[in-house]
Amino acid sequence: MSKSAKLAVLGSINVDQILNLAHFPRPGETVIGKQYQIAFGGKGANQAVAAGRAGANLVFVACVGADDVGQRIREQLATDNIDTSSVEAIDGESTGVAMIFVNGEGENTIGIYAGANASVTPEYVARHREAIVTADALLMQLESPLESVLAAAKLARENQTQVILNPAPAVPLADELLALIDIITPNETEAEILTGITVNSEEDAARAAAVLHHKGIKTVLITLGSRGVWLSEQGAGQRIPGFKVNAIDTIAAGDTFNGAFITARLEGVAMNEAVRFAHAAAAIAVTRSGAQPSVPWRREIDDFLQQQG
Ligand code: ATP
Ligand code: RIB
Repeated sequence: MSKSAKLAVLGSINVDQILNLAHFPRPGETVIGKQYQIAFGGKGANQAVAAGRAGANLVFVACVGADDVGQRIREQLATDNIDTSSVEAIDGESTGVAMIFVNGEGENTIGIYAGANASVTPEYVARHREAIVTADALLMQLESPLESVLAAAKLARENQTQVILNPAPAVPLADELLALIDIITPNETEAEILTGITVNSEEDAARAAAVLHHKGIKTVLITLGSRGVWLSEQGAGQRIPGFKVNAIDTIAAGDTFNGAFITARLEGVAMNEAVRFAHAAAAIAVTRSGAQPSVPWRREIDDFLQQQG
């Protein structure tokens, strides 16, 4: 089958219940919130939306519950330039849920109920194999069952589909999976879980990247929040700074970065420029609240970059 520059995203879909409060409740404490919002989220869906709004040609492999909100999410994803033919509604399951607290500093803590996301099994991956084998790149995260991430990575590798893993939320990963990854994009915490190296400096980032290269991964992008990313290709590393903005809520900053980054790469944009494009998209996202409501469209990213000069 012939290939065009096509992206497959495999991952989670959640309904985010977001409560803004002055500080996180301690055990036993009740804190009155300042603002409450229900918004569509989930790392997989956020990354698919970021890619779709940035202009990618993509198919999303995921599950929603056979509920009202699942139907609304599928309709919304389609309006974000996403092929949803591989997003099935699972009978007897509810759509995934994330309960998110955002404190006065814009930091967040998240609790998740997987719901229908647990139905993205290796069998489900096999049923939707066409989406993966005909894609140029496969983008995944870790809110789907690990065995399914592994199955999808194997399928991609066998069919010359590039594998990009955003290893979030943080869990230790087997070498078998890491060896199938072409590009990995951990944040500092995830990099530490994967390598045992605490990332507090550029030297630490370089050492963590070296461990990941040793596992067989060619390109390592460690995201450093407002400081940008550490980009390491085959061991040659550099920090690429992000943009200075007034951040109000970083939910989906990493997701927006990943979706925009792979979109630019699939357009043939050079690595450093793709990172800059992704920084712009993520910088816009942190100036807005919520996950998918914060994700910018292509025109907004291009305008932002033009203003930055
Ligand atoms: P999150 O879990 O909050 O979505 P993350 O921990 O996966 O994010 P980060 O390293 O915090 O990822 O951020 C990813 C990218 O988002 C950064 O590389 C940068 O481009 C952008 N970013 C994050 N925070 C800021 C900020 N305060 N100002 C500007 N850009 C930011
Ligand atoms: O990365 C942000 C996402 O993490 C939220 O949308 C929430 O659903 C959790 O999955």
